[in-house]
Amino acid sequence: MIALVLARRSMQKSAMRKTFRPRRSVLYVPASNAKALAKIASLDADAVIFDLEDAVAPQAKDDAREALRNYFRANPASKAERIIRINALASEWGAEDLLAARACKPDAILLPKVETPQDVTGVTEILEETDASENIRLWAMIETPRGILNADEIAELGLRSTGRLDCFVVGTNDIAKETGVSTDGNRAYLVPWLMQIVLCAKAGKLDVIDGVYNDFADAAGFTLECDQGSRMGFDGKTLIHPAQIGAANHAFSPDKAALAAARSIIEAFSLPENADKGAIALNGKMIERLHLANAEKMMAKAQMTGDKA
Ligand code: COA
Ligand code: MG
Repeated sequence: MIALVLARRSMQKSAMRKTFRPRRSVLYVPASNAKALAKIASLDADAVIFDLEDAVAPQAKDDAREALRNYFRANPASKAERIIRINALASEWGAEDLLAARACKPDAILLPKVETPQDVTGVTEILEETDASENIRLWAMIETPRGILNADEIAELGLRSTGRLDCFVVGTNDIAKETGVSTDGNRAYLVPWLMQIVLCAKAGKLDVIDGVYNDFADAAGFTLECDQGSRMGFDGKTLIHPAQIGAANHAFSPDKAALAAARSIIEAFSLPENADKGAIALNGKMIERLHLANAEKMMAKAQMTGDKA
């Protein structure tokens, strides 16, 4: 009986496991900018966030929504994952944005300034009640002091088999605005909050995308911040300009040495003499089966993004 219950639970868990999508480079495109919209097809970003919120002036909201509808009508499919950022439901534009976003059938809708689990479940309920496709997922911006403090509870929604929450996006500009924290000096004062958000996201089995780097002409500074984000455990970085895509794709892909190490771990555990071992020695280091799982995950990701050892 116990075995049966455990087997059922494990099946439920694996059904919950989401399919991997590379999210190394996540480019914001203001829905009000026709030239930028036209440029998307030629870009190599893993994901695009069509923005109706911060990047669109209040007087341009209606036109931006219309431009978005036209864009999705003209471009029903895309290689990049497509996300629409709407204004907060409580704002004067929120309801119309949600309606328009739902009709566009994007991969996900990004909710700004999420502060409580109810900010997400409220939208989930509307999507369920209006029979929106299961394929429309939700992403949440963590970008306010309250949102950071509640990130743990919000991320728990990622563990619900019926939930739609897939990803956190950090809004560093809003965090700086709300708190007065400096983002200078390698983000020294911001890093503790960022690490907290990463930890919460991982506990909820969510992906988590780092904030933007505003100075898009500073390629060297951008590369440093990408490397920092990658080492902190972020899955990718949000971008504001096409010039940032290549460096982000590079920084959030495993390098050749890491891929070679992963391959040798997989090979070592596949040897008949190691079949029943939990830990082995490889090149003078202890390797456990948890390293094997990580190595397999890395190789699977590399296969999807075309990275080779
Ligand atoms: N997405 C797609 N294309 C973009 C783009 C973006 N985010 N930013 C710039 N481009 C395009 C431009 O349209 C231009 O296209 P072209 O080659 O056809 O002329 C090309 O890339 C070069 O752009 P550039 O002239 O260097 O920049 P710009 O002055 O046109 O735009 C910004 C600068 C900052 C206004 C613009 O990059 C932008 O709006 N970024 C996103 C801002 C945003 O969404 N903020 C909210 C989240 S923080
Ligand atoms: Mg914002």
